[in-house]
Amino acid sequence: MVVPAMDEDPGLAVPADVLAVDPERMRALGYAMVDRTIAHLSGIESLPAIREADASDLRLALDGPVPLQPHDLAADLATLADTALAYQQHGDHPRYFARVPGPSSFPGILADWLGTGLQSVASSWGGGSGPTTVELVALAWMRDALGLAPDCEGILLSGGSMANINALVAARHLHGDGVVYLSDQAHASIARGLRAMGTPAESIRMVATDAHLRLDPDEVRRAVAADRASGRRPAVVVATAGTTNTGAVDDLPALSAICRAEGLWLHVDGAYGGAAALSPRGRAAMPGLDLADSFVTDPHKWLFQPYDIACLFVRGEGSLERTFAMHPEYLADLHGAEVDLHNRSMELTRRSRALKLWLTFRAYGLPTLQRAIDRGIALAEYAERVIRAHPRLEVVTPAQLGIITFAGVGNSDDDHRTAIAQLNAEGFAAASSTVLRGRTVLRLCIINPRTTTDDLEQTIERLAGFLPRA
Ligand SMILES: Cc1ncc(COP(=O)(O)O)c(C=O)c1O
Repeated sequence: MVVPAMDEDPGLAVPADVLAVDPERMRALGYAMVDRTIAHLSGIESLPAIREADASDLRLALDGPVPLQPHDLAADLATLADTALAYQQHGDHPRYFARVPGPSSFPGILADWLGTGLQSVASSWGGGSGPTTVELVALAWMRDALGLAPDCEGILLSGGSMANINALVAARHLHGDGVVYLSDQAHASIARGLRAMGTPAESIRMVATDAHLRLDPDEVRRAVAADRASGRRPAVVVATAGTTNTGAVDDLPALSAICRAEGLWLHVDGAYGGAAALSPRGRAAMPGLDLADSFVTDPHKWLFQPYDIACLFVRGEGSLERTFAMHPEYLADLHGAEVDLHNRSMELTRRSRALKLWLTFRAYGLPTLQRAIDRGIALAEYAERVIRAHPRLEVVTPAQLGIITFAGVGNSDDDHRTAIAQLNAEGFAAASSTVLRGRTVLRLCIINPRTTTDDLEQTIERLAGFLPRA
């Protein structure tokens, strides 16, 4: 074959190894990164749980003109680790109790490294039959171990926000448009997702919660009747299994009964608490998961996974494909007789998030994961006992699925916000406030099995110490 000379194209003069790193150097850098990770994991107790830097200091260290010259990889890796990553919340720290911790475990980290190193992709059967199978297996393990309906079909997404919006898109596609009912305790990502889907404000119905901050079934029934009477079409009820604020679980059997009677779709957001149903103790707190038409849970919260990974399950074989399938010409060669995971959500190119979940189940086995979950539930109940015994603190909501909220006796909203800021600035532990029925309260989310009772006692005592005597 005679190929016309292209000497004049400077692109062809670029060596093929233009981006290559010498294997010995890769090995040394890789080992150094492993060493750093192990040092982090084994010495985390002595690090601050959260650290924030001055923006100008960070800019000074990390900003600059677009680099034109190659810099030393080892030095810049150290800059990332020591400067950028040192200033963040450590959701895996045993005294990180703010918002929702992310207590990841080592098998998950290993699998994520492997998937990244091998550029794994779980998009189509033809382009990733291995990773696809791992994902289908891991999803089936989750479905069965959580006690979801056996006809649930699943997909992994980046987090609860994305899983919830994909669930709502599926609900709308499969069940039709109409009014969506959610409580003021539903996660903010639900209403944001609905807005992003173009759901008009008059079709997003905020329903009152009961005395325990759970979606009130009677109020749902009333709201549905009122909407029908005014000519609207009720479509979806969004329940929460473990609210972010207090860990409350909505009454799924009662809500499901309403949904069946009224022909509504029941979506259950278990992004925070849902994974606790893997253990009998957690499952007892949320009966009725099998009644959900769609269900979300985030293994990067309470199933010890590195970010990011969420599970979405929708009932009915083929329901996700019916909602999301697309068939561009250039993907036709990849289409096999098996599942193309890019047809199960809004994602096309997608990393294999299942590798870490699969390896975690295999490495520990379900009973060990159940014990790790139970420890979180028990630690929060222990924290409740400590708070009840404290002369200057009062429980606002009891320990529910790893979350306790409390307040200083006679202290104001500002006192609580200031105490949280002081605790976080000190770094010994991290916690956050939340607002319940207009009152700012202190909140601990305790799901890291590495947390000790001593960690809890010290954190609670410090918080009490930061509150002015009323
Ligand atoms: C109940 C609930 N739903 C949804 C979300 C959103 O999840 P993500 O942050 O993974 O998007 C959260 C996050 O805390 C949550 O607690």
